[in-house]
Amino acid sequence: MQVWKDYQAQHKDRFLNELLELLRIPSVSADSRHNEDTKRCAEAVKQRLEEAGAEKVEVCPTAGHPIVYGEKIIDPSFPTVLVYGHYDVQPPDPLDLWTSPPFEPVIKDGKIFARGACDDKGQFYMHVKAFETMIKTNTLPCNVKFMIEGEEEVGSNNLGIFLDSNKERLKADVVLISDTSMISLDTPSIDTGLRGLAYMEVGVTGPNRDLHSGVYGGAVANPATILAKMIASLHDENNHVTIPGFYDGVQELSAAERKKLNEAPFDEAEYKKDLGVEELWGEKGYTTIERTGIRPTLEVNGIWGGYTGEGAKTVLPSKAFAKISMRLVPGQDWVKISDLFKAHFEKIAPKSVKVTVTAHHGGSPYVTPTDHLAFKAASQAITETFGKEPIPVRGGGSIPIVALFEKVLGLKTVLMGFGLDSDNLHSPNEKYDLANFYKGIETIPYFHQYFAEGSKK
Ligand code: BES
Ligand code: MN
Ligand code: MN
Repeated sequence: MQVWKDYQAQHKDRFLNELLELLRIPSVSADSRHNEDTKRCAEAVKQRLEEAGAEKVEVCPTAGHPIVYGEKIIDPSFPTVLVYGHYDVQPPDPLDLWTSPPFEPVIKDGKIFARGACDDKGQFYMHVKAFETMIKTNTLPCNVKFMIEGEEEVGSNNLGIFLDSNKERLKADVVLISDTSMISLDTPSIDTGLRGLAYMEVGVTGPNRDLHSGVYGGAVANPATILAKMIASLHDENNHVTIPGFYDGVQELSAAERKKLNEAPFDEAEYKKDLGVEELWGEKGYTTIERTGIRPTLEVNGIWGGYTGEGAKTVLPSKAFAKISMRLVPGQDWVKISDLFKAHFEKIAPKSVKVTVTAHHGGSPYVTPTDHLAFKAASQAITETFGKEPIPVRGGGSIPIVALFEKVLGLKTVLMGFGLDSDNLHSPNEKYDLANFYKGIETIPYFHQYFAEGSKK
């Protein structure tokens, strides 16, 4: 629509500057030293929603970081879109690998570099600006509710509680989220699924104190060695996960579905080059697209213990630790998988050490319905502004609250993401292309328009 185009062209620079301001707030949810920043970020989001034209905007406290809510009800009989996003970000470290400081955004080669640029400040902010566009041009075709939370990157536990106690306020017809990727601006795609997650921490304790590795080494089991062996045994020679029961109930796709899935463009040589690896790795019998979309996996996120400082220290450590996560697919339950992991890890521990296994958080997988009116609206909106129909693909990441939107609120979700897998989410030098940011702002109003029109039929 021309009025949208004109409005957005006129306010282009302000949209960007506002985003840069949000990116300067280090709202790292995992790190309690940033609790004040996180709160400040929630207040900033509130202010932005109000300026854009939302009403009843509120920073809702939780036992953890606050949730920002706002809405615009133009007519209660019209359909309502619940927009979800998160203003919290991942920790920025390792800091020395950033080419510019993570919370001092810079624009280079048409890309915004900053922690949260894509995940998810840059993406949820497109919705605020698309909403502003519709409000200021008097073209909002449906009701909109915003729920922007501050704990997505740490599992959204308090948001689950918020859903339970705010069912009336959150009543809507569909949830719309931009917090996933597309293949590229030339090849738009829509994620039709998210994997679930079970996140564990393990500790292995050997002797009651760190020991001289010459005096005691060779006579006492080294917890770091034991932990390494235990972790290595979690995959077999075909890279299947060895935890008994891990694959029970996993929904397999039909041959036709797998064929369709693998039709999405994928350049293996380019993929390897981008990552700097000579060879890919993964579960035997599955392609890379399948390994990262429809198959469950197990990864070590971090492993530590003993001396890791400068130089050398000859020591046999008393303790070693690891953080291990599993990505889950439909048919797997994260609580059950956490229990299976714990039982297995305790069972394979030799008598020479003691192990502790604790579950951090988790979430269920979700598959979006492609026959839903809102999916069709998203597909149509992207076709309108990209000039190409988006390809449906399965996303590998997780957004734990999405399964609860369905369970608690009875709502389906559409994942209309505008990021790229190569945006360095959770890595140093996270970025978001300006082109993607503006394309998102341009596309979102069409979603609302098509969804509102479709709902009337
Ligand atoms: N936005 C991501 C999830 C994502 C990214 C999905 C790309 C699909 C494609 C989200 O912020 C995220 O990182 N989620 C965490 C989950 C969590 C419980 C920490 C994840 O997937 O690791
Ligand atoms: Mn995210
Ligand atoms: Mn993330």
